[in-house]
Amino acid sequence: TYVIAQPCVDVKDRACVDECPVDCIYEGKRMLYIHPDECVDCGACEPVCPVEAIFYEDDTPEEWKSYFDANAAFFDDLGAPGGAAKMGEIDHDAPFVAGLEPQNQ
Ligand code: F3S
Ligand code: F3S
Repeated sequence: TYVIAQPCVDVKDRACVDECPVDCIYEGKRMLYIHPDECVDCGACEPVCPVEAIFYEDDTPEEWKSYFDANAAFFDDLGAPGGAAKMGEIDHDAPFVAGLEPQNQ
């Protein structure tokens, strides 16, 4: 799967959403999250993010490895909705993301 990491927090550019052929990039309150089971590893989202927040799981920088779990944890209560568009902005974040200081990139 691909993973969204810290540069997305409090930025939420959303350019990635338009590129995803399977609509698996979901919007939380402070960042967006890729559904690890719905992502088909097409790679289309990665180059369009203006802040370079998106990585293939194995290429996620060491300092942001925790975002692999954060992306998965976002869906603990949601399961596999099968499409982000119909969900709109979802009113929570992965716990560790919710607790981050405001990011000012
Ligand atoms: Fe975030 Fe980049 Fe997408 S800032 S919403 S990962 S285009
Ligand atoms: Fe996955 Fe990004 Fe493609 S989330 S399905 S690699 S557009």
